[in-house]
Amino acid sequence: MSEINYSYIVEYIRALHPVPTSNVLLEIEKKIASETEHWPIIKPEVADFIKVVLSLIKPVHILEIGTAVGYSSILMSEFLSENGHITTIERFPYMLNIAKENIKKAGLEETITVLEGDASEILPTLDAMQYDVVFMDCAKGQYIHFLPECLRLLKPNGLLITDNVLHKGTVARSRYLIDRRQRTTHSRLRDFLWTITHSDELRSSVLPVGDGIALSFKTGGKTND
Ligand SMILES: C[S@@+](CC[C@H](N)C(=O)[O-])C[C@H]1O[C@@H](n2cnc3c(N)ncnc32)[C@H](O)[C@@H]1O
Repeated sequence: MSEINYSYIVEYIRALHPVPTSNVLLEIEKKIASETEHWPIIKPEVADFIKVVLSLIKPVHILEIGTAVGYSSILMSEFLSENGHITTIERFPYMLNIAKENIKKAGLEETITVLEGDASEILPTLDAMQYDVVFMDCAKGQYIHFLPECLRLLKPNGLLITDNVLHKGTVARSRYLIDRRQRTTHSRLRDFLWTITHSDELRSSVLPVGDGIALSFKTGGKTND
Protein backbone atom coordinates (compact mmCIF):
# COMPACT_ATOMS: atom_id res chain seq x y z
CA MET A 1 0.00 0.00 0.00
CA SER A 2 1.42 3.36 -0.97
CA GLU A 3 -1.02 5.66 0.83
CA ILE A 4 -0.36 6.60 4.45
CA ASN A 5 -4.06 7.15 5.21
CA TYR A 6 -7.12 4.96 4.73
CA SER A 7 -7.67 4.76 0.97
CA TYR A 8 -11.41 5.50 1.20
CA ILE A 9 -10.62 8.75 3.03
CA VAL A 10 -7.88 9.67 0.52
CA GLU A 11 -10.26 8.97 -2.38
CA TYR A 12 -12.97 11.09 -0.77
CA ILE A 13 -10.62 14.04 -0.14
CA ARG A 14 -9.21 13.79 -3.67
CA ALA A 15 -12.72 13.91 -5.10
CA LEU A 16 -13.08 17.31 -3.41
CA HIS A 17 -10.03 18.70 -5.26
CA PRO A 18 -11.38 21.50 -7.47
CA VAL A 19 -10.73 21.60 -11.20
CA PRO A 20 -7.73 23.91 -11.72
CA THR A 21 -8.39 27.27 -13.32
CA SER A 22 -5.17 27.00 -15.34
CA ASN A 23 -5.54 24.99 -18.58
CA VAL A 24 -1.92 23.87 -18.32
CA LEU A 25 -2.49 22.44 -14.83
CA LEU A 26 -5.70 20.78 -16.01
CA GLU A 27 -3.90 19.21 -18.96
CA ILE A 28 -1.13 17.85 -16.68
CA GLU A 29 -3.70 16.43 -14.24
CA LYS A 30 -5.64 14.78 -17.10
CA LYS A 31 -2.53 13.16 -18.56
CA ILE A 32 -1.59 11.74 -15.17
CA ALA A 33 -5.16 10.57 -14.39
CA SER A 34 -5.41 8.78 -17.75
CA GLU A 35 -1.92 7.32 -17.18
CA THR A 36 -0.73 8.78 -20.50
CA GLU A 37 2.16 10.19 -18.46
CA HIS A 38 3.67 9.18 -15.15
CA TRP A 39 5.00 12.54 -14.10
CA PRO A 40 5.71 12.99 -10.40
CA ILE A 41 3.60 15.91 -9.17
CA ILE A 42 2.26 16.87 -5.78
CA LYS A 43 -0.85 15.01 -4.73
CA PRO A 44 -4.22 16.83 -5.05
CA GLU A 45 -4.62 17.18 -1.27
CA VAL A 46 -1.08 18.59 -1.03
CA ALA A 47 -1.87 21.08 -3.82
CA ASP A 48 -4.98 22.23 -1.94
CA PHE A 49 -3.05 22.51 1.32
CA ILE A 50 -0.30 24.60 -0.31
CA LYS A 51 -2.90 26.90 -1.85
CA VAL A 52 -4.28 27.72 1.62
CA VAL A 53 -0.83 28.26 3.14
CA LEU A 54 0.29 30.54 0.30
CA SER A 55 -2.98 32.50 0.46
CA LEU A 56 -2.13 33.28 4.11
CA ILE A 57 1.51 34.20 3.46
CA LYS A 58 1.14 36.06 0.15
CA PRO A 59 4.80 35.38 -0.72
CA VAL A 60 6.89 37.59 -2.95
CA HIS A 61 9.76 35.16 -3.53
CA ILE A 62 9.43 31.39 -3.59
CA LEU A 63 12.23 28.89 -4.09
CA GLU A 64 11.33 25.37 -5.21
CA ILE A 65 13.75 22.45 -5.18
CA GLY A 66 12.41 19.86 -7.65
CA THR A 67 10.48 21.32 -10.62
CA ALA A 68 9.56 18.11 -12.45
CA VAL A 69 7.14 19.26 -15.21
CA GLY A 70 6.39 22.61 -13.56
CA TYR A 71 3.01 21.69 -12.06
CA SER A 72 3.64 22.99 -8.53
CA SER A 73 5.48 26.10 -9.77
CA ILE A 74 2.57 27.05 -11.99
CA LEU A 75 0.11 26.33 -9.18
CA MET A 76 2.11 28.38 -6.63
CA SER A 77 2.46 31.31 -9.05
CA GLU A 78 -1.29 31.99 -8.64
CA PHE A 79 -0.69 32.90 -4.97
CA LEU A 80 2.27 35.27 -5.34
CA SER A 81 2.01 38.88 -4.30
CA GLU A 82 2.22 41.49 -7.01
CA ASN A 83 5.63 41.34 -8.73
CA GLY A 84 6.27 38.03 -7.02
CA HIS A 85 8.66 35.48 -8.46
CA ILE A 86 9.44 31.78 -8.30
CA THR A 87 12.86 30.23 -8.74
CA THR A 88 12.75 26.49 -9.28
CA ILE A 89 15.58 23.96 -9.60
CA GLU A 90 15.58 20.76 -11.66
CA ARG A 91 18.43 18.47 -12.68
CA PHE A 92 16.75 15.98 -15.03
CA PRO A 93 16.85 17.23 -18.69
CA TYR A 94 13.66 15.34 -19.67
CA MET A 95 11.70 17.13 -16.93
CA LEU A 96 13.40 20.45 -17.64
CA ASN A 97 12.22 20.49 -21.25
CA ILE A 98 8.62 19.71 -20.36
CA ALA A 99 8.64 22.20 -17.48
CA LYS A 100 9.91 24.98 -19.73
CA GLU A 101 7.24 24.15 -22.32
CA ASN A 102 4.48 24.19 -19.70
CA ILE A 103 5.69 27.45 -18.14
CA LYS A 104 5.77 29.04 -21.60
CA LYS A 105 2.28 27.71 -22.42
CA ALA A 106 1.02 29.18 -19.14
CA GLY A 107 2.56 32.55 -20.07
CA LEU A 108 4.72 32.52 -16.92
CA GLU A 109 8.24 32.84 -18.31
CA GLU A 110 8.71 36.19 -16.56
CA THR A 111 7.36 34.88 -13.25
CA ILE A 112 9.07 31.50 -13.01
CA THR A 113 12.81 31.04 -13.49
CA VAL A 114 13.98 27.48 -13.97
CA LEU A 115 17.55 26.84 -12.84
CA GLU A 116 19.05 23.81 -14.50
CA GLY A 117 21.32 21.52 -12.54
CA ASP A 118 21.75 19.77 -9.25
CA ALA A 119 20.42 21.66 -6.24
CA SER A 120 23.56 20.74 -4.27
CA GLU A 121 25.52 22.95 -6.68
CA ILE A 122 22.90 25.64 -7.29
CA LEU A 123 21.70 26.34 -3.73
CA PRO A 124 25.09 27.71 -2.49
CA THR A 125 25.11 30.22 -5.39
CA LEU A 126 21.82 31.86 -4.34
CA ASP A 127 21.72 34.98 -2.15
CA ALA A 128 20.88 34.52 1.52
CA MET A 129 17.58 35.42 3.18
CA GLN A 130 15.65 36.29 0.05
CA TYR A 131 12.80 33.74 0.06
CA ASP A 132 9.48 33.89 1.89
CA VAL A 133 8.84 30.25 1.09
CA VAL A 134 11.08 27.34 0.19
CA PHE A 135 9.24 24.32 -1.19
CA MET A 136 11.50 21.26 -1.02
CA ASP A 137 10.23 18.41 -3.21
CA CYS A 138 13.29 16.55 -4.54
CA ALA A 139 15.18 13.37 -3.64
CA LYS A 140 14.12 12.59 -0.05
CA GLY A 141 17.56 11.36 1.00
CA GLN A 142 18.92 14.84 0.28
CA TYR A 143 16.56 16.82 2.51
CA ILE A 144 18.90 16.66 5.50
CA HIS A 145 21.83 17.85 3.35
CA PHE A 146 19.83 20.73 1.84
CA LEU A 147 18.40 21.89 5.17
CA PRO A 148 21.29 24.28 6.09
CA GLU A 149 20.94 25.92 2.67
CA CYS A 150 17.17 26.22 3.07
CA LEU A 151 17.73 27.93 6.43
CA ARG A 152 20.30 30.28 4.95
CA LEU A 153 18.05 31.20 2.01
CA LEU A 154 14.82 31.71 3.95
CA LYS A 155 13.94 35.13 5.32
CA PRO A 156 13.22 35.29 9.07
CA ASN A 157 9.52 34.36 9.45
CA GLY A 158 9.83 32.44 6.19
CA LEU A 159 8.29 29.03 5.69
CA LEU A 160 9.89 25.78 4.60
CA ILE A 161 7.40 23.30 3.15
CA THR A 162 8.81 19.82 2.60
CA ASP A 163 6.86 17.13 0.74
CA ASN A 164 6.88 13.32 1.01
CA VAL A 165 8.50 13.30 4.44
CA LEU A 166 6.70 10.17 5.64
CA HIS A 167 7.76 8.14 2.60
CA LYS A 168 4.68 5.91 2.35
CA GLY A 169 4.67 5.62 6.12
CA THR A 170 7.97 3.72 6.20
CA VAL A 171 9.59 6.50 8.26
CA ALA A 172 7.39 5.61 11.22
CA ARG A 173 8.50 1.97 11.15
CA SER A 174 11.56 0.41 12.74
CA ARG A 175 14.56 0.34 10.37
CA TYR A 176 14.68 -3.46 10.76
CA LEU A 177 11.29 -3.72 9.03
CA ILE A 178 12.56 -1.65 6.08
CA ASP A 179 14.01 -3.14 2.93
CA ARG A 180 17.82 -2.82 3.15
CA ARG A 181 17.92 -0.65 0.00
CA GLN A 182 15.59 1.89 1.65
CA ARG A 183 17.46 2.11 4.97
CA THR A 184 19.65 5.07 4.05
CA THR A 185 16.63 7.13 2.98
CA HIS A 186 14.80 5.98 6.11
CA SER A 187 17.56 7.11 8.46
CA ARG A 188 18.17 10.38 6.57
CA LEU A 189 14.47 11.27 6.63
CA ARG A 190 14.30 10.49 10.35
CA ASP A 191 17.37 12.65 10.88
CA PHE A 192 15.72 15.45 8.87
CA LEU A 193 12.44 15.24 10.80
CA TRP A 194 14.19 15.12 14.17
CA THR A 195 16.36 18.10 13.22
CA ILE A 196 13.51 20.34 12.01
CA THR A 197 11.41 19.55 15.08
CA HIS A 198 14.28 20.26 17.52
CA SER A 199 16.03 23.21 15.85
CA ASP A 200 16.12 26.56 17.70
CA GLU A 201 15.71 28.23 14.33
CA LEU A 202 12.51 26.44 13.32
CA ARG A 203 9.05 25.59 14.57
CA SER A 204 7.86 22.54 12.68
CA SER A 205 4.77 20.44 12.29
CA VAL A 206 4.65 17.10 10.50
CA LEU A 207 1.29 16.41 8.89
CA PRO A 208 -0.04 13.15 7.41
CA VAL A 209 -1.29 14.86 4.25
CA GLY A 210 -0.44 13.20 0.92
CA ASP A 211 2.79 11.35 1.58
CA GLY A 212 3.52 13.57 4.59
CA ILE A 213 4.24 17.29 4.63
CA ALA A 214 6.52 19.13 7.06
CA LEU A 215 5.77 22.80 7.67
CA SER A 216 8.66 24.69 9.27
CA PHE A 217 8.50 28.34 10.30
CA LYS A 218 11.88 30.07 10.49
CA THR A 219 12.05 32.09 13.69
CA GLY A 220 14.08 35.23 14.23
CA GLY A 221 11.87 37.79 12.53
CA LYS A 222 10.93 41.07 14.21
CA THR A 223 7.17 40.59 13.82
CA ASN A 224 5.04 37.74 15.15
CA ASP A 225 8.02 36.33 16.96
C1 LIG B 1 8.53 14.86 -6.86
S1 LIG B 1 9.27 15.60 -8.24
C2 LIG B 1 8.83 17.30 -8.09
C3 LIG B 1 7.39 17.56 -8.37
C4 LIG B 1 7.03 19.01 -8.53
N1 LIG B 1 7.43 19.79 -7.37
C5 LIG B 1 5.54 19.16 -8.74
O1 LIG B 1 4.79 18.89 -7.80
O2 LIG B 1 5.13 19.52 -9.84
C6 LIG B 1 10.96 15.64 -7.79
C7 LIG B 1 11.86 16.26 -8.85
O3 LIG B 1 13.07 16.63 -8.20
C8 LIG B 1 14.15 16.44 -9.09
N2 LIG B 1 15.36 16.34 -8.26
C9 LIG B 1 15.63 15.36 -7.36
N3 LIG B 1 16.79 15.63 -6.74
C10 LIG B 1 17.25 16.80 -7.27
C11 LIG B 1 18.41 17.58 -7.06
N4 LIG B 1 19.35 17.20 -6.18
N5 LIG B 1 18.58 18.71 -7.78
C12 LIG B 1 17.63 19.10 -8.67
N6 LIG B 1 16.52 18.39 -8.93
C13 LIG B 1 16.32 17.26 -8.24
C14 LIG B 1 13.76 15.16 -9.85
O4 LIG B 1 14.43 15.08 -11.10
C15 LIG B 1 12.25 15.32 -9.98
O5 LIG B 1 11.89 15.87 -11.22
